[in-house]
Amino acid sequence: MQHFKFDVLVIGAGGAGLRSALQLSDAGLNVAVISKVFPTRSHTVAAQGGIAAALGNVTEDKWIWHMYDTIKGSDFLGDQDAIEFMCKNAAEAIYELEHYGMPFDRNLDGKIYQRPFGGMTKNFGETSISRTCSVADRTGHAMLHTLYQRNIKNKTQFFIEWSSLDLIKDDNDQVLGVIAYEMATGKLAIFQAKKTIFATGGAGRIFETSTNAYINTGDGLGMVARANLPLEDMEFWQFHPTGIAGAGVLVTEGCRGEGGYLENSDGERFMERYAPNTKDLASRDVVSRAIATEIKNGKGVGKYKNAVYLKLSHLGEDKINEKLPGIREIAIKFANADPVKDPIPVVPTVHYMMGGIPTNLHGQVRKNSIGDLVGNFYAVGECACVSVHGANRLGSNSLLDLIVFGRAAGQNIVETINKQEKFPDIPKNAVEFTQQRVNELNDKSDQSEDLATLGSDLRKVMQEHCGVFRFPELLHAGVKKIHDIRERSNYLKIKDQSNIFNTARIDALELKNLIVVAQATIESACAREESRGAHYRSDYEDRDDENWLKHTLYYADTNTIDYRDVKLKPLTVETFALKKRVY
Ligand code: FUM
Repeated sequence: MQHFKFDVLVIGAGGAGLRSALQLSDAGLNVAVISKVFPTRSHTVAAQGGIAAALGNVTEDKWIWHMYDTIKGSDFLGDQDAIEFMCKNAAEAIYELEHYGMPFDRNLDGKIYQRPFGGMTKNFGETSISRTCSVADRTGHAMLHTLYQRNIKNKTQFFIEWSSLDLIKDDNDQVLGVIAYEMATGKLAIFQAKKTIFATGGAGRIFETSTNAYINTGDGLGMVARANLPLEDMEFWQFHPTGIAGAGVLVTEGCRGEGGYLENSDGERFMERYAPNTKDLASRDVVSRAIATEIKNGKGVGKYKNAVYLKLSHLGEDKINEKLPGIREIAIKFANADPVKDPIPVVPTVHYMMGGIPTNLHGQVRKNSIGDLVGNFYAVGECACVSVHGANRLGSNSLLDLIVFGRAAGQNIVETINKQEKFPDIPKNAVEFTQQRVNELNDKSDQSEDLATLGSDLRKVMQEHCGVFRFPELLHAGVKKIHDIRERSNYLKIKDQSNIFNTARIDALELKNLIVVAQATIESACAREESRGAHYRSDYEDRDDENWLKHTLYYADTNTIDYRDVKLKPLTVETFALKKRVY
């Protein structure tokens, strides 16, 4: 078996992984990045609308306003120290990207162009503000290419079309690397490192309708859960208000930032009723619930009345072509609607996982509610929960999170790694455990479970039982159904037993990760008896700060839940006091 050794291993080549790798390779460390896909096909490439930072290029702005908006957007579940760190470091992170060559759109004076986005306001909620820096509607694409090219320049090593399957840990909870699977050969290899960073992205494929790529299968979360470590705040999933009806493809919030708006079947701009101040630019959980309510009340559009319209035609063809060219193309291809003249039918669609692998500000992984750390192990980006997004993320804070915390984790490693230290021995059973997981998929038995059926059952249950609105009977029934699916997954078998690019085997291994993520989600959602941010329960309609101002920690190995208090104390400024969230 091949056995590779590196100073640092980064799993995942999206924005967070590449930003970490850049920090490390800049410092002369020997860095390897393992990725299931070619790096520039990572899911960051799909990010459209932009990246937030209080640059003040269009109108005056301050990082503390951004901090307030993010805390309010999180429905006060975000940790205020982490949010201060992110918002304060945002401007520097953007200028760094600019200097790396990222081709941001420009204002006439040459400064970086910024557009309004949901929940981003001036002067602590007074009015919407232009804070989101963009490259038309292809910001993630531009960011990913910029970071990849810089890494190539630095000679970061890439292992492409390799899937990481399990963490290697010693008896003292020190991470030693991963066991990974080479898709081209079907062989396993040991990747050993002094420090390991997970940047494995989200898991939106637990739902039927999703803006997420097929690669978003929660692999990092699966590996962490199999290593008996907790997952944090998994009940909080963001539904993006505007996925194309029927297709799920993302239609950027930048459309509403540029002046687009939503209409119901009466031609009414209904967001004025739900969010009188910010209207279509309220936070995503608020807009998604408003759309779902309009549809439930018979005000939906289209043949099945199960969508609402997003109108852009009043912006004019020139502006649409300049600022939203990708959206025009997507709408024509997936909805047969040219936004220059037609409204786009849209519906709330799963988009982002607020929870993830618990970490501190440096990306170091926590193993329990008191914050003890797992040695030599980091997580950044969507797979991590630091927690800056709390119960609801603001649009354009995701790309920022990738860059700020990707850099922070890299920098922490640069400052703490001991390059001279010898590599310890790998525990013998590490490889056996993973080899057995792969082999058992091949066994033929009468009781085998079919891959496609099990996957589709999983997604159906999550879509029906854990959606925009959550009902107690559905949640409880969903817990049982997911438990059954997990049991059935023990009998999951694949017919194709070849080794060269066996995509069925990859899908089966990914499905096991998705099942763990789904179970963490629905168990945590069932336990949280309040409504907060994206978690809205029909039986507990209010936020309950007295009992629930705490983060969920779900342990998959024991199917148990623990909690830790929300950090209300920022690093240098005063705490933002709790208050009712209205837009
Ligand atoms: O709507 C969008 O462009 C998505 C942005 C985000 O999720 O941050």
